[in-house]
Order: sequence, then C-alpha cells, then structure tokens
Amino acid sequence: MRDILPPESGRWRRFTEVFADVVERAGYGQLVTPLLEDLGVFTRIGDATDVVTKEMYDFVDKGDRHVALRPEMTASVCRAFAEHRPTVPWKIWYAGSNFRYEKPQRGRYRQFDQVGVEVLGVDDPYLDVEVIALAWEFYARLGLSRVNLIVNSLGEPGDRARYVEALRAHFTAAGDGLSEQSRATLDRNPLRVLDSKREVDQEHIDAAPQIAEFHGDDAAGHFEAVLAGLRALDIPFTIEPKLVRGLDYYRRTIFEFQGDTLDSAQNALGGGGRYDGLVEALGGPPTPGVGFALGLDRTLLACDDEGVFPAAPPVLDAFVVDVTGGLQAVALTAELRLAGFAADRGYDNRSMKAQMKLANRSGARFALIVGDDELDAGTVVVKPMSGAGEQIAVARSQISSYLASHPPQN
Ligand code: HAM
Repeated sequence: MRDILPPESGRWRRFTEVFADVVERAGYGQLVTPLLEDLGVFTRIGDATDVVTKEMYDFVDKGDRHVALRPEMTASVCRAFAEHRPTVPWKIWYAGSNFRYEKPQRGRYRQFDQVGVEVLGVDDPYLDVEVIALAWEFYARLGLSRVNLIVNSLGEPGDRARYVEALRAHFTAAGDGLSEQSRATLDRNPLRVLDSKREVDQEHIDAAPQIAEFHGDDAAGHFEAVLAGLRALDIPFTIEPKLVRGLDYYRRTIFEFQGDTLDSAQNALGGGGRYDGLVEALGGPPTPGVGFALGLDRTLLACDDEGVFPAAPPVLDAFVVDVTGGLQAVALTAELRLAGFAADRGYDNRSMKAQMKLANRSGARFALIVGDDELDAGTVVVKPMSGAGEQIAVARSQISSYLASHPPQN
C-alpha cells in the first residue's frame, strides 16, 4: 500500500476525470459502493479463485459480522442492483480502491485502484462491443498506443462445465509432467492451469483442448457478433483461446487489455467480460451483465513507459511576493482566487530574494511584487516569469484585468 504524493495524485484524479468524461458521454452514471461488504458478496465471485480464497482482507467486525474489503467492484455492483432493483439497462461506472493480499511488486499492490463500467439487463452482443470500445477510446485519450486487446469466449455455463471436465481429463493424463503448482491448481480449477507461465507446463497447455470446440450455437453466435462489431469499429484484436481470466463468474465474452511495455506477469492493464449469473447468485432476478475494470496503477506505469499522460503540477497564474509584512499578499491572493485565478504566496515575511526563489519554483506565470513603494503608490509590480517581457507596475485595482488580458500561451 502506497502514499500518492502531488503531483502524481493530480494525475490520478485526471485519470478518473478523463474516464468519467468518456463513459458519461455514453450514458453511464457513477455508482459509489462501500469499501466493505458482507463476505458473502465476494464469495459469489467463485470459491475456486485466488482472489477469494487467498487474497481477501476479511475479518469479523465488532457486531460479529464477517466482512471483507472489496477485492474488486463487479460483485458490489451486482449486490447493489439486487438491492435497489433499478430499471434496466443499468449503465454504471465506478472508480476506487480495491484490496488483495498479493505478493507486492512493480504493478501489483495490495491496495490498487480501478475504474470500470458495468451494464446490467442487456444480452445484446453489441453491448459487449460498446464496453470494449469505451475502454479503447479511454486508452486513446490517455495517449497510449501500445495496448493489445485479446478476446475469447467461455461459452454458456454448460459449455464451460464440459470444457472444464475435458481440461481436467487432459491435464490429469499429463500426471507428473505438470508442475507441482499446476497440479494443485488442477484440483481447484482446471481452467487456471491455462494461465501457468511455467516452462514444463507449456507443452501440455499447447496440446490442451480449446474452448471453441465446446461452444454451443448460442455462445458461438454471440461471439461472432462481438467480433463483427469490433471489426466494424476498426478495433484490432487477437482471439486467445487460452484466455480464461481470474474470476469464476465469467460466461461467454471475456477480454483483456495488455500493455506491451510491461512485464508479462503484470501486463494486464484491464479486463472484463460477461457474468450473466452473478446478479442471481446475489439474490436478484436472472440478469445478464457485462463490464470491465481497468487498473489505474498499472495503466499509469504503461503511460510512463510510453511517455504519455505525464504528471503535471497545477499551473499558477500568479505568485504574490509581499515584503511589506504579508497583509497585502493575504488580500491580493484572496481577491485573485475569487476572480478565478490560481494564486499562491510566500509566508513568514521572508526576504525578497527568498520569496522570489519560491515564485520561481512555483512555476507561476507572473510574480506580483508589493514593496513599500508600491504600497504607497497603490501599484503592484508584475514580473513575467517565463523570461519573456519586461516587468511593469500595474495599478492595484487593475491586477485581475491585467492577468485576464494576458492568458497562458500554449
Ligand atoms: P481483474 O482482472 O481482477 O478484473 O482486475 C482488473 C484490472 O485491475 C487488472 O487488469 C489490473 O490492471 C488491475 N489489478 C488487479 N489486481 C491488481 C493488483 N494487485 N495491483 C494492481 N493492479 C491490479 C476485475 O477486477 C473484474 N471486476 C473486471 C470486470 C468488471 N469484469 C467484469 N466487469
């Protein structure tokens, strides 16, 4: 878990603002859910996933309730849907922190942030296309270009169950040829063996049956429509038959965005898919759902690697340097801020030299200097900090209009 200091914290906020702008123009409204939920909300994600069995921050609270910090937000959205029964389609976006007790490393943290969308109540494959396109647009807005979309379909629940059994048989036949870790995974969840990056497992994974062979007509038709929609929008994708994703609630379409500048173990910038049975499992009516979550922490690492979406400190219009005691700076900054300018000032009545140093460091466009002479004359010295232009004395009452008539040059 980390502290996020300025200016990086400002970048975090802008990240969410850009995301909100993209999805709100597509009709999504923000849902805010509690960080803490009843443990049962998350066990519905699947008792065969590490996220639930090993990584959850769960505890018994003072009221004897077994609760957990959310490890992701899809289950909370479905819980909220089952509770409030809003009209469908329910198009929701969210942003916030999640908690997983994972082994921390670059791009993998125990508290990490996500932004995401979920849509409940719509079966339409073109909705899957819409949500993927929104993530794609968001990456473009950040300036990221080295992002690969990979897609797969897990089929209907029956298809998936038959596939899991075929995989179990296939990997069981491999016996000791499989790594010890994968043999343990096999017991719990044969699908996740496909995720193994261990060398010894690769030949068995390559020879494993593929999910598409198990798709019934419905799932196959749905998937074809999704692919056709992506092609129609010119969104490049790769079909990855081994993509299974880490959570058990998925059915039919699943997808992942991978950043090719990052280490392969942490290269998933985001992912999502359909989870048509989850609302029902949480006590709601049968309701189809689809969505994604994008990892903020990791996506910003990808931005660093690509040199885009930099952290930028807020730009100040003015830094007030007052060497008459400080009261002029109090009044002038207050006045400028009310007029809509960004203004800061020096404190502790420090020397002109010390305050000018601060003005320089602040990155402000202008230093506004008030000394005894200016105070007597009712003026302020305006000094452009960019190096361009002469400093001039401006009447105290004209400062706001002077700044307004000298806007930032881009
Ligand atoms: P997920 O794949 O578990 O899916 O997480 C989505 C993204 O969150 C990952 O691709 C990654 O960028 C980020 N992430 C996950 N764990 C960590 C971590 N420990 N540290 C840093 N970043 C992390 C979900 O959470 C699903 N709820 C997505 C979804 C929404 N499916 C349908 N709707």
